[in-house]
Amino acid sequence: MAITVIGSGRVGASIALNCAVNDLDDILLLDVIQGLPQGEAMDINHQLSEMGIDRLVRGSSNYADIGKSDIIVLVAGLGRKPGMTRMDLLNTNAAIVNDVSKKIASHAKDSTLIVVTNPLDPMTYLALKASGLPNSRVIGMGGLLDLSRFKSFVHSSVGISRSSIQAIVIGEHGENMLPLVRFCSIGGIPLEQFVDRSTQSSIFEKTRSVAAEVISLKGATIHAPGNAVAKMIEAIIKNKNSLIPVSAFLEGEYGVKDVCIGVPAVIGRNGIQKIIDLPLNPAEQELFLKGVRNVQEAIRSVRPLMA
Ligand code: NAI
Repeated sequence: MAITVIGSGRVGASIALNCAVNDLDDILLLDVIQGLPQGEAMDINHQLSEMGIDRLVRGSSNYADIGKSDIIVLVAGLGRKPGMTRMDLLNTNAAIVNDVSKKIASHAKDSTLIVVTNPLDPMTYLALKASGLPNSRVIGMGGLLDLSRFKSFVHSSVGISRSSIQAIVIGEHGENMLPLVRFCSIGGIPLEQFVDRSTQSSIFEKTRSVAAEVISLKGATIHAPGNAVAKMIEAIIKNKNSLIPVSAFLEGEYGVKDVCIGVPAVIGRNGIQKIIDLPLNPAEQELFLKGVRNVQEAIRSVRPLMA
């Protein structure tokens, strides 16, 4: 099995579905709940049969099955409930991520790991340390989802095709997320040519808060995260060298060391092939570093697990 998704709940099932319908590879779904991954696999295979896509989706509750995976997605753990921040999940999910990452180390040490479980940046760091995989092969998914929300608000503000919008969202996948409004363009023309400052501020604020609104309305965010992870997997499998914001381990980029946080990166066959070190203005720098401090504090509190 080339793609393994660990955690077959709402987001895990959506990731598997998005990978399958895009014909990316065969998929193994895994979960601690007996029957859930097997049932999800059957359901997706039925859809593939009608679509004429010859990929096989399997369900399992046995970690020995992940051994042949090239790409593993770690999406096991609790999601936020209405009113919670991502950081409220820290202690519960850290134990799960630590445990699963060690199993990945013993069964699939040559894989590339995409981390989805929240709080995303500290969980990416923990997965990196607990799995022992190389820095370039542990990639957190947060920024691409934030970007899809940013693009959605730009689209509704300017009324031009979504396919013409170029943008980037970096920083913490959480309270200090940093949508880089000044780098957004539509067909190469800066966003400020289309909307005034107050609309730009509104796009910035709504991008930062909309996930909580979705969770308060339907209990979880599912489809957009599923698509974002599949896009990252596609970039790796097809060696696309796509520029994608991901949570990556920094070694001096942005003036920061020993933390995982959202930055623009080139994603291809070898995982994170290059990190783009953008010059930020003072306001952007302040928010980015506030996010770094928040993530560092979370990492400190789960560090005993890494001993
Ligand atoms: P869910 O509750 O629907 O599914 C989680 C699944 O993980 C459950 O089926 C559970 O049995 C399984 N699980 C728990 N421990 C496990 C273990 N040790 N091994 C294998 N499976 C295990 O939750 P949902 O909505 O799918 O969210 C999953 C995680 O993804 C949450 O932490 C959520 O906050 C996060 N998330 C992250 C996003 C991002 O942008 N990074 C976006 C959306 C969700």
